[in-house]
This record gives sequence, C-alpha cells and structure tokens, in this order.
Amino acid sequence: MNIVEKAAEKLKTLQPEQPLPPVDDAVPRRAPHTVERLQERIRMAEPQPAVEIAPPWHVDERALQRAGLLPREDGAGGRLADEVRRVKRPLLDNACGKSGKSFQHGQRIVVTSAVPGEGKTFTAMNLALSLAREPDFEVLLVDADIPKSDITQVLGLQGRAGLMEVLADERRRPADVIVRTDVPNLSIVPAGERHPLTAELFGGRRMQYVLEELGGHDRHRLLVFDSAPLLATPESPILATHMGQVLMVVGAGRTRQHEVVQALEGLGESQYVGLILNMSRLPAIENHYYSHYNHYSHYQFQDQ
Ligand SMILES: Nc1ncnc2c1ncn2[C@@H]1O[C@H](COP(=O)(O)OP(=O)(O)OP(=O)(O)O)[C@@H](O)[C@H]1O
Ligand SMILES: [Mg+2]
Repeated sequence: MNIVEKAAEKLKTLQPEQPLPPVDDAVPRRAPHTVERLQERIRMAEPQPAVEIAPPWHVDERALQRAGLLPREDGAGGRLADEVRRVKRPLLDNACGKSGKSFQHGQRIVVTSAVPGEGKTFTAMNLALSLAREPDFEVLLVDADIPKSDITQVLGLQGRAGLMEVLADERRRPADVIVRTDVPNLSIVPAGERHPLTAELFGGRRMQYVLEELGGHDRHRLLVFDSAPLLATPESPILATHMGQVLMVVGAGRTRQHEVVQALEGLGESQYVGLILNMSRLPAIENHYYSHYNHYSHYQFQDQ
C-alpha cells in the first residue's frame, strides 16, 4: 500500500457510519413567538414615521365678540368677569367636594334654559374661559346643543367629528374628538353632525361611557356643556340627567314664570341647581324676581 492508499484508508475510518444531519436541523429551533419578538425588536429599532401632533386650535376672540359671545368693550368685560367669578366659585366647591355636599358627577356642569335665546351659549363660553384660568383645573367645553351648535360654528369647528360621531360609532375613541385650543387649559368637543336619534343616543349606555372618558377619571377636569333649551328639545332634559350641576339661565323680562317652573320641575333632586338672571338692566340688589326659589342659588348677569 503506497502512501496515498494509506491516507485514503485512514480517511474512511474517520468518516461516521451515518450521514450527518442537514445543517438546519443541527441548529436548535426557536419557538415562533421568540422569532416574532425579535422581528418586533428589529421593527422598533428601525426609524418610525413621526407622530403628528396637531397644533392647538386658535380661539379667535374677535370672532367670539362679533358673535356676541364675549363683551366688546373693556369695562363690560371686567364687570362680567366679576359676575362669572361669583357663579363659578360654588361650582368649583361642589366639583371638588369642598362645599360639604356631595354631588355625583359634580364636575359635569350643564348650562341650560327653559326656552331659546336666554343666553346659554354666552354663559357657557364665559364660564368655561373663567374656569380655565383656575390653576388647578382643565376645562372641556362640550357643544351639546346639537341642532344649533353655535360654539362649534363660531370657533370654526364645523365638519370635525364631535359628540355625535363618538356616540353613534363605537369604533371611535372619545379622546379623539377633543380639540386642544391655544387658550391654556381649555379644550373643546364639537357637536358633530346632526343625528335623527340624538335623544336616544343621549339616553343610551354609550353616553355614560363617553362622559366617563371625557371626564378623564379625575376631579381636575371640569366639563361644561352648552345645551339646547329644556322645553324645546327632547334630548336636553335627558342630557341634564347625566349632570351633577345645572345652571339655568333665565332671560330677564323674556321668560315666563311658568316656563321656568316647568323646566325646573324636570330636574333631579340630587343635582345642584344655580339660577342666573341674565341680561338684566337692574342692579342685582334691586331684583327680587327669584325670591321664592330660595332653595336654589341664584345670580345675576347684567346686560353687557
Ligand atoms: N349677559 C349678556 N349681555 C349681553 N348680551 C348677551 C348676554 N347674554 C346673552 N346675550 C346675547 O343674547 C343673544 C342670545 O344669547 P345666546 O346665544 O347665548 O342664547 P342661547 O340661550 O344660547 O340661545 P339659543 O337657545 O338660540 O341657543 C346673543 O346675541 C348674545 O350675544
Ligand atoms: Mg345657544
């Protein structure tokens, strides 16, 4: 046997009897979820498209003044600011349980009235702006006057998804219809599109969920609702049942007493009810219009 034959013989003895398994099977298999996790990590390490944060919505004070929702001249603005301060103080105390009475959903405040044109939107807007100046709170102004949606229109938010869309479509998240504004601590929920079943949607279980979500699960967010008149639409009294606090605006010299009484009778006993005599030309001290409703708090807004 020459040297080459000897080497070939030796090589044969070194080769295993069985063929080696394919290379793939020699590597221990990873569980599929491990692979998915790895793929997920790789995806996360890749640069992601930047999440677009919309700039805050501009609240145009001039547009509000033109629409009559803010006073035009400075003197009137100062007087109104003081009047609103008197109204908001007990609302704040009730909302955070400082008043000694506990109101369920005290951080939900609806501004309503018996009949149209008594100053609900004017009051809701000025109250929301005043509450937003409180350092410890943030405010959500909800346009729940679906037929008129004045707040939505004046702020230029028509066409945006709002309260009605989030009520009618279970896939929408309540947080997605909140519009941040450039007024510190103030956000808006537009009304959205009119809906033929507004009353039913306001009375449904989803409404409770949507209100909970909009409330942000703490007492630092106050919800101010502008609404349609109590005696004019079926949905307005239903909306009021979800609220801890009700501000009833009464237009001085225009609303009949029996209309006010009828509207008040529809409210729950456990709610805080504040009455505002609006557009009065008399100093508050001279006005005794509400002396017989002395179990309610009452205030007066002069004609600005
Ligand atoms: N205190 C006030 N001083 C001056 N003007 C006011 C005052 N309150 C309301 N107004 C004016 O009265 C008009 C009706 O007010 P507003 O739109 O707030 O009423 P409303 O109750 O919301 O009406 P609607 O039921 O039609 O929604 C507006 O032009 C508003 O500018
Ligand atoms: Mg209105």
